[in-house]
Amino acid sequence: MRIGVLTSGGDCPGLNAVIRSVVHRAVVDHGDEVIGFHDGWKGLLECDYRKLDLDAVSGILARGGTILGSSRVQPAHLRGGVEQARGHVADLGLDAIIPIGGEGTLKAARLLSDAGLPIVGVPKTIDNDIASTDVTFGFDTAVTVATEALDRLKTTAESHQRVLIVEVMGRHTGWIALHSGMAAGAHAIVVPERPFDVQELTDVVGKRFEAGKKFAIVVVSEGAKPREGTMDFTSGATDVYGHERFSGVANQLSVELEERLGKEARPVILGHVQRGGTPTAYDRVLATRFGWHAVEAVHNGRFGMMTALHGTDIDLVPLSEAVEHLKTVPVERYTEAECVL
Ligand code: F6P
Repeated sequence: MRIGVLTSGGDCPGLNAVIRSVVHRAVVDHGDEVIGFHDGWKGLLECDYRKLDLDAVSGILARGGTILGSSRVQPAHLRGGVEQARGHVADLGLDAIIPIGGEGTLKAARLLSDAGLPIVGVPKTIDNDIASTDVTFGFDTAVTVATEALDRLKTTAESHQRVLIVEVMGRHTGWIALHSGMAAGAHAIVVPERPFDVQELTDVVGKRFEAGKKFAIVVVSEGAKPREGTMDFTSGATDVYGHERFSGVANQLSVELEERLGKEARPVILGHVQRGGTPTAYDRVLATRFGWHAVEAVHNGRFGMMTALHGTDIDLVPLSEAVEHLKTVPVERYTEAECVL
């Protein structure tokens, strides 16, 4: 068989582990040929690729980023993108494409699959917001990085008796905020699923100071917004792909909290450090298993499917199901976190 692999959308620790696993399983165990498209769907649309053999993937398991490069170009956004992709798949004699990506990539994968192209998707994102899989690789690394940062920020917050408002990634879901906030023992966690009331938040932090504590750490997810009418708030603009550009909720919150509490407050935006660098062992294993199962799905003709973790098993789920809705933080998970704040 001849298989094409690509990585698309925002990068994420573990992408190289999937690529390596696909190549090992396909080349060594099945005698396949694997090619890697450069810069995501753009590579397929422009027929820009290279051969991936065992040498090409040697030493990449622990490396962050993606050796293939990535971009946010989606076939659906380009006139004639689907026909172009179909033509290149035929010209290159490809039996399957394995796109590794998040929500946008998997939506594009579904579009191409519905158009008859042989696709098996692999979900990735630090945000952990893909429905139909318990976890995406990259999430554990992002939570680990954010937790370490929060541990460090606690000591400087304490030295200066400050309130630190730490903004983490996650887009429209609060998984990174919830997990890193719980792991680091943050004093408040603010997620997009539950619009915040700035006065309630002020009271929570204020009570901590009244109890004699000298500092506070508030973790806020980048997509969090105030409850309507409770605070002036500037929302972000939208980029060309329809993604909201987040406007720095931590900056706005720190101004409000400083004023309302009469305590020094500082915003800290962790940003892309959360998705750079080496993946954790957990993410390496999950990514490797996803790659292995994606190749098996190709050999079993299970096109239009995506690999997914359920408990400890890797299953296949329809791409249509995976992109139906985002996996948000359920209210009971937030309640559990609240009682330990
Ligand atoms: O979806 C992954 C993610 O890292 C989000 O958490 C974040 O909002 C976004 O990508 C950042 O995207 P960009 O790399 O375009 O700034």
